Amino acid sequence: MSKEITDVTVVGAGYMGGGIAQSLALGGYDVTIADADEEKSAQALNRLLKEAKEFENQGLFLPGSSETIAQHLKNGGSIENAVKNADFVEEAVFEVPDVKLSVLERICRTAPIDAIIGTNTSTIPVHILEPAVTNPERFLTVHFSNPAPFIPGVELVASDKTSQATIDSVKEVLARCGREGAQVADKPGMVLNRLQYALLKEACNVVEENVATVEDVDTIVRTTFGFRLGFFGPFAIADQAGLDVYANCFKTFEDAYGKRLATPPLLKEEVSDGRLGIKNGKGITGDFDAESKNELVAYRNKAYAKMQLLLAELGPAPQGHS
Ligand SMILES: NC(=O)c1ccc[n+]([C@@H]2O[C@H](COP(=O)([O-])OP(=O)(O)OC[C@H]3O[C@@H](n4cnc5c(N)ncnc54)[C@H](O)[C@@H]3O)[C@@H](O)[C@H]2O)c1
Repeated sequence: MSKEITDVTVVGAGYMGGGIAQSLALGGYDVTIADADEEKSAQALNRLLKEAKEFENQGLFLPGSSETIAQHLKNGGSIENAVKNADFVEEAVFEVPDVKLSVLERICRTAPIDAIIGTNTSTIPVHILEPAVTNPERFLTVHFSNPAPFIPGVELVASDKTSQATIDSVKEVLARCGREGAQVADKPGMVLNRLQYALLKEACNVVEENVATVEDVDTIVRTTFGFRLGFFGPFAIADQAGLDVYANCFKTFEDAYGKRLATPPLLKEEVSDGRLGIKNGKGITGDFDAESKNELVAYRNKAYAKMQLLLAELGPAPQGHS
């Protein structure tokens, strides 16, 4: 059974911790923050309240949001004082294992023994941090993305000791804050960074090989497949394009770039099982009949047309000087 959560503490109220605290307060949780010392924590609270007002004035938060945040966010002073009544503690201190281990130990010495404890680590496997946590069935990675007030996805990583009830409780908290949690295995880089860094690595290769400039790579990514990514993941996109088409494209890549870009066995298997994507109603993401296919195509067209309007409204992103 999932745990009822009302009081949340964020330890490490820097860039990420601050945004996480705002997001949880906006979801109606009573959020206490703590940082390296009381003064830093007080400064963080002032910054977060001021920033929330600015976000509201800019129309980025709904009217009344900054008031909600002001009502629900407070400075806990010391870590010990901040966590003593918490139902859920999210750690967001420096990405240094020893710092995280000592902060997690400190949290566990005072927090209620059944308080859920999450870490916002981007890269450290959960099993490396877990030894610092007493009652490790309540511990997991809860990895928010930057900027936390505006990016909805959160990666969850359980250790082999984390209970299902812990995962369910955190997913409920995230849903109440308009966030979507997805659980992934305890591997370095998890999913988000593994995919993001694979893209960056190949983008660097393209520039190093003089295939395109930095500017042109960015233009192509944001105006073509990147344009789709706010709505669909790589599997949904492959279903729309045709799994057989993608499998064949990989053959060209394999000829040119070797095994690194050979057709993945998962894709080969789908195609040999007759799963070609929405065109034959059998996709890697699921089955489609005529009605669900039409709905998907209509949604896709609307999404891309609206995206184009949004981009026209916003204008180009500010560029750095060369
Ligand atoms: N910045 C990003 O884009 C991003 C994205 C996702 C996850 N993360 C992860 O979030 C965590 C925090 O990153 P950030 O970018 O917010 O860093 P940050 O430097 O802005 O914030 C870290 C905060 O932790 C505090 N802190 C350090 N040691 C402490 C201690 N012993 N006790 C209490 N507080 C302490 C610092 O004073 C600071 O306010 C890291 O694990 C990072 O990998 C960062």
